[in-house]
Amino acid sequence: MTTVLVTGGMGFIGSNFVRYIMQTHPDYKIINLDKLTYAGNPDNLRDIENDPNYSFVKGDICDREVVEKCMVKADYVVNFAAETHVDRSIYYTDEFVRTDVYGTFILLEAMRQYPVKRFVQISTDEVYGDCGDTPSTEDSPLNPKSPYAASKTGADRLTYSYWSTYDLPVIITRCTNNYGPYQYPEKLIPLFVTNAIENIPVPIYGSGRNSRDWIYVLDHCKAIDMVLHSVGHDGEIFNIGANKELSVLEITEIIFETLGKNNDLINHVKDRLGHVPRHAVNTDKIQRIFGWKPEYDFKSAITDSINWYVENKEWWMKIKYQDKDYQSFYKLNYKENQKDLE
Ligand code: NAD
Ligand code: TYD
Repeated sequence: MTTVLVTGGMGFIGSNFVRYIMQTHPDYKIINLDKLTYAGNPDNLRDIENDPNYSFVKGDICDREVVEKCMVKADYVVNFAAETHVDRSIYYTDEFVRTDVYGTFILLEAMRQYPVKRFVQISTDEVYGDCGDTPSTEDSPLNPKSPYAASKTGADRLTYSYWSTYDLPVIITRCTNNYGPYQYPEKLIPLFVTNAIENIPVPIYGSGRNSRDWIYVLDHCKAIDMVLHSVGHDGEIFNIGANKELSVLEITEIIFETLGKNNDLINHVKDRLGHVPRHAVNTDKIQRIFGWKPEYDFKSAITDSINWYVENKEWWMKIKYQDKDYQSFYKLNYKENQKDLE
């Protein structure tokens, strides 16, 4: 029996990945190690929580004891666990350094003791900083611009060092912005979709011309699955992206069009500190080596994703209206625009 240890499996990408692996490898066992921070939501995996091949361990990746107990059972590891929101990283930097860097260190140390076939570190394209005129390649310099991106860069390079120092079978992936179901409604798409559904203005930072590459979460999951099972390539980096760059204004337009809303709901607010103008990656390497390419058509995947939030109001209303953490962060982050948003 093959066992995959997934950390952070109660979050957005992690929960989609757990479900994806259970469907594509029905003979696998999954251990989901998650601390259940504000972003970890057991509702994300209600449908599979009683599956005999699935087990959940509530624990912190910074806790050596619990990590070792999970690692000893694992054949493969995918580390999604992280603090992930750029805006939060400006207020609560210590949590980002702790989980993203120190937590990854604890996982890598446990792997030295209890070897596995493959450890995939889920890094991010944010490690490159602004890509300027040319999408970043795996060899581009790292210029992280937010405490989130810098913490992820620390974890990314620490993971690499455990290959170069100890020859551990690690791979690092750097993906662009994901969209899809179960994304915590603090990130651009679920925040704007759920605000728009309720006719609450959407807070566009600065001009709204900042752009990101947008990938459907299941395309990302498939790429991770391929990398996870690859032979060779230890210590290597793979960019993952969909070559679908859109500005915040363009994303807003798509959301409004899908939901039948008009531009009265647009609210240009104070810009994010250190806001990166453009993130985009070159994905030639993963396409050449693994033959991976995004399969989901953007138009239909984004429409389906927006409609998922329309059809799953209960899921996000519980977060927005019962989660004190959500409300206090919203107030803190958007306080200067509070009057406009109420
Ligand atoms: P998320 O915030 O939705 O989920 C993070 C999960 O990690 C939560 O379930 C949380 O409870 C858990 N967690 C946090 N701290 C933990 C700790 N100390 N111990 C155990 N569990 C802990 O994040 P996401 O958007 O699903 O991102 C998952 C990973 O993918 C992250 O590593 C992120 O950096 C990376 N990534 C995300 C994107 C994106 O667009 N969302 C893009 C590229 C890379
Ligand atoms: P986000 O979803 O936070 O992802 P990231 O910062 O990791 O790319 O933000 C995506 C883009 O949307 C980014 O340019 C910032 C912008 N944005 C807003 O304009 N307003 C908001 O309230 C949020 C959360 C994001």
